[in-house]
Amino acid sequence: MIDTSPVACKEFFSYLEKLFSISVSDIRAMIKDFHVEMGRGLSGDESSLKMIPSFIDKPKGNERGDFFALDLGGTNFRVLAVKLDGKGNARVPFASKFAIPQEDMQGTGVALFDFIVGCIDAFLTENQVDRSKTYDLAFTFSFPVEQTSIAVGKLIVWTKGFTATGVQGRDVVGLLIEALKRKNISCINITALANDTVGTLAARSYVDPACDMGVIMGTGTNACYRESISNIEKLDVPIADGHMIVNMEWGNFDKVRRTCYDRPLDKASVNPGAMFLEKMVSGMYLGEITRLVLVDLIRRDLIFGNQAHGAGCFAKRGSLRTKGMSRIEGDKTDRLDGVALFFKTNGISNITLHDKILLQRLCRIVSARAARLGAAAISAVLTWIDPKLKDVHTVGIDGSLFEKYPGFKTKMDDMFKELFGEKAERITLVHSKDGSGKGSAIIAAVAASSKP
Ligand code: BGC
Repeated sequence: MIDTSPVACKEFFSYLEKLFSISVSDIRAMIKDFHVEMGRGLSGDESSLKMIPSFIDKPKGNERGDFFALDLGGTNFRVLAVKLDGKGNARVPFASKFAIPQEDMQGTGVALFDFIVGCIDAFLTENQVDRSKTYDLAFTFSFPVEQTSIAVGKLIVWTKGFTATGVQGRDVVGLLIEALKRKNISCINITALANDTVGTLAARSYVDPACDMGVIMGTGTNACYRESISNIEKLDVPIADGHMIVNMEWGNFDKVRRTCYDRPLDKASVNPGAMFLEKMVSGMYLGEITRLVLVDLIRRDLIFGNQAHGAGCFAKRGSLRTKGMSRIEGDKTDRLDGVALFFKTNGISNITLHDKILLQRLCRIVSARAARLGAAAISAVLTWIDPKLKDVHTVGIDGSLFEKYPGFKTKMDDMFKELFGEKAERITLVHSKDGSGKGSAIIAAVAASSKP
């Protein structure tokens, strides 16, 4: 029989805290594993880190020009016009955002690319763009892509809930060109293909030379950093000096300790057996992990005791979103009125203060693990670049989790202090806004300026 006493509740929460905790020694072990996987990925051996060369170095800050940029990688698709002034300023004179219909995300690739081109067409019309001229366009495509040059790359595998058929294994720039032709749009010249992390690094390093790493903590998670070309052993090119940005695809890192809540989440996802780190760290999944624990708490009668119907409200997969967690954790009122309101709008009223405290604690447990794992992954990359942390490093980060989740950045900074002591001051996490928009235009400008 399940023990539902307050003591049982206390014990269960202590158990959860332990289950989700990431100690400094866990982090040290994770850093070691990360380094092994990074080395293997760079040399072309089997690794959970794909370590994809981007064929571009970071900008110098003097790149200039007018570009269009496409941003595909989350629930919305964006088309932007970006103006670079060559003095570190990237302006967006106009931009449009479109929600991607579920049937295009999970239908056929042709439908998805036709949707994209339909949005481009609407953007050109709305902003009265002269179609008799030609415009350089940078395509931010935030999925694992095996790039073979700056504007050519095959999708390895979909992530973040996308499943459109006929795209995996194909060059996504080629698919875009075909879709543009189908709609008779000939004023677009695709000059760069970039991952959002690469755009984020570019956007920050355009104004800050100490930036050598770009990170996304949003719907998904990933990072890129600046690597010596001589270390990218798998790169079959004659040039061996200089640097290149490497897209790590760290969301797929698999040397992580998963819990009895992570496993069913993975099993029910559209990509089971993959993206283990992403499924513990990113916005697409944190709400679902929390929901699975909540369902367990309800099943054990440790919460919502006064709400017979409580269980039903969160029975459905996806019914608790990370956005909701952030409202729960961010509630600073004495009686946690915000938490009560959140649950009221989800059909659970008259929630007790005790339950509100438990819910806030639960969100904190799940988000703290995410922040600490994210910080551990950053530490691994920085100690790969600079083992003794002799230099200062700026990490440009974008994504709603980092930007909006209450206390996320503080939890990451705290972990750096635990791990590195005073040297943690050498690591600065900076919100690099709109790397996937402005950043890819900067990449296009770097590509244009490095053409022989
Ligand atoms: C993708 C990465 C991307 C990250 C953040 C992951 O699911 O595989 O390419 O950078 O999400 O958007």
